[in-house]
Amino acid sequence: MRFNHILYWQKALKISIITILKIILIFLNISFPSPVVLFIYMSLYGTIELMKILDIKNLNLGFECENGFRQALFDVNFSLQKGEIHALVGESGCGKSITAMSVLKLLPKTAQIKSGEILFKEKDILKYTNKELEHLRGEKIALIPQDPMTSLNPLFTIGDQLLEVIKVHQNLQGKDAEKKAIEALEAVRIPSAKSRMKTYPHEFSGGMKQRAIIAMALCCNAEILIADEPTTALDVTIQAQIMNLLNEIKSENNTSIILITHDLALVGENADRISVMYAGRIVESASSEEFFTNTNHPYSIALLNSIPSLNKEKLETINGQPPTIQQNISGCRFHPRCKSCMDICKDNIPNNISIGINHFSACFLNNKD
Ligand SMILES: Nc1ncnc2c1ncn2[C@@H]1O[C@H](COP(=O)(O)OP(=O)(O)OP(=O)(O)O)[C@@H](O)[C@H]1O
Ligand code: SF4
Ligand SMILES: [Mg+2]
Repeated sequence: MRFNHILYWQKALKISIITILKIILIFLNISFPSPVVLFIYMSLYGTIELMKILDIKNLNLGFECENGFRQALFDVNFSLQKGEIHALVGESGCGKSITAMSVLKLLPKTAQIKSGEILFKEKDILKYTNKELEHLRGEKIALIPQDPMTSLNPLFTIGDQLLEVIKVHQNLQGKDAEKKAIEALEAVRIPSAKSRMKTYPHEFSGGMKQRAIIAMALCCNAEILIADEPTTALDVTIQAQIMNLLNEIKSENNTSIILITHDLALVGENADRISVMYAGRIVESASSEEFFTNTNHPYSIALLNSIPSLNKEKLETINGQPPTIQQNISGCRFHPRCKSCMDICKDNIPNNISIGINHFSACFLNNKD
């Protein structure tokens, strides 16, 4: 695997600034932010801002239904840095896929974006022309869906479909295009890549189909991969192989990946950052390490407690279901299911507040007064 210098220096810079900040705090016994600490914090913040490739800001989205407009996403904030895997987790129906699909503007006709911005390299995708969107999809941002059959055409060979992508996005023809397609299949570890070019999707196993989709994303040199439950339909061994492959692509090409999943165990092993979504809101966001050591939001804690483990005698469950977009929930959207619910939670919406370096949580339990 090629050593990634950019990623190395970005991480080294982040770690050194955080370490300096911690040492200063310990030596000066500072409990409130002094100008020096604020300056260092702002420098760190500036560094993080510079590395952002995608920034979703206050996204509010809903659907025109039979009984009128129903909101599905509430002030969603989600950012992705260069060369990181940012996992979006939450139960079914929480809004993970529609958040991801709004990045590609691949939404049903009934969807309406009420407000917000989706900045790709600081330019708002929501203001893109159709031509700009065509370039964006596949060429800059590629989607790896849960079921690869929905993206592969059963009537064409894998080779034909790869060559089509290469023709459109890389303007290569003939032998050059074929060489590129074979290289992409080899990169995703498809054995006998040259002869496999002539096979049809139904001749591939589930894991191989998913690899073929990833090969297409590689052919476009996409800067962002959106992997929407990429391993749910696969068995555990193939799951691990696909996740290893995504990690290799990230390290070798500095590709940024949005990993959508229900599986917190998978996230723990693979994600650099985690955002937890509940009923259309991001309720907690932190680096992977910080998330697992200082889990804050009651919903995140409940999700973690419901992971099966050999040490647990009884599996904990979260009572009830997430609300549908037809249900009106006042206050904190998790309050009907929350074991720590207080009076304030029933009528007031908790703000996302900073509870650590780049760690945010939206829960009244963090309000000190
Ligand atoms: N076309 C649509 N019309 C109306 N409501 C929709 C539409 N598409 C999605 N929704 C609703 O929006 C909410 C979020 O859906 P979304 O598909 O993003 O959930 P998800 O978190 O990806 O769930 P899953 O894990 O099951 O894939 C759900 O309540 C869903 O019913
Ligand atoms: S704000 Fe209240 S209801 Fe919501 S998660 Fe926190 S404690 Fe539970
Ligand atoms: Mg989904």
